[in-house]
Amino acid sequence: MLRAMNPKLVILTGASRGLGRALAVQLLQRGRHLLAIARHADPTLDALARERGAALSAWTLDLADAPAAAARLAQWLAAQPSADAVLINNAALLSEPAPLRDGRDAELSAVLRVGLEAPLLLSAAFLRATDGWGSDRRVLNISSGLGRRAMAGSASYCAVKAGLDHFSRAVALEESARSDGRRGARIVALAPGVIDTDMQVQLRGADRARFPDGAMFEALHTDGRLTTPDEAARRVLAYLAREDFGAEPVADIRG
Ligand SMILES: NC(=O)c1ccc[n+]([C@@H]2O[C@H](COP(=O)([O-])OP(=O)(O)OC[C@H]3O[C@@H](n4cnc5c(N)ncnc54)[C@H](OP(=O)(O)O)[C@@H]3O)[C@@H](O)[C@H]2O)c1
Repeated sequence: MLRAMNPKLVILTGASRGLGRALAVQLLQRGRHLLAIARHADPTLDALARERGAALSAWTLDLADAPAAAARLAQWLAAQPSADAVLINNAALLSEPAPLRDGRDAELSAVLRVGLEAPLLLSAAFLRATDGWGSDRRVLNISSGLGRRAMAGSASYCAVKAGLDHFSRAVALEESARSDGRRGARIVALAPGVIDTDMQVQLRGADRARFPDGAMFEALHTDGRLTTPDEAARRVLAYLAREDFGAEPVADIRG
């Protein structure tokens, strides 16, 4: 039976800045047990967790080494009691906006590893470790309109987000048709709207000769059309809690 969710345990990547940090704050305010992952720690999250009596585990690690991150998550989950649980794959990065032919290989590789390889391996670890829990388990992949609409100058990011969308569709099929009688997990790749974060600063600050769409991102900012991270996080968490979460494995917060 479908029902709205109040997860006990939330694993969140990219919790140090932007949308991820706003999600972390709101989850701790709701008293969730949060495992927050990013390369940098945010000491204010520790203080908030103490104030709210919420459990916070903060890992500083580079998701570019996705197998190591997934192995650590599997080990950690094996020590957790069964509970309603969520994995939010939020961390991502952009390469410098430019045609692919001008990209640097190391940077392009990091975009793919952090934005696609890590979510896929973390999802595998999460689904495997929690498979016998019998609880409500959800995977939320933070996608983008750019996974569905191509934009010159952001090929690696477009590939990452299209990949997230399609792996979410495939996993949704696997989890909804369990022949072993176990309760399947639900998964959604959600485009969160356009949010006023460092990523937007990078897009509107890019070299216009190599990234003409920078002007459009500049206009979104000057026209006040960016959502604040707090508001975006509120909408994302409302979506995550929906009874019909997973009915559409690829979705957009803007409806
Ligand atoms: N902003 C928008 O308008 C927009 C629009 C559509 C979709 N999105 C999506 O929304 C999500 C959040 O974006 P945002 O705008 O909040 O981005 P952001 O402000 O740039 O934050 C990115 C987060 O990812 C983490 N991260 C980056 N590289 C990492 C690595 N190698 N290992 C571990 N963590 C890493 C960063 O933490 P550290 O630097 O501490 O590692 C940071 O917490 C992303 O999936 C993005 O694609 C954003």
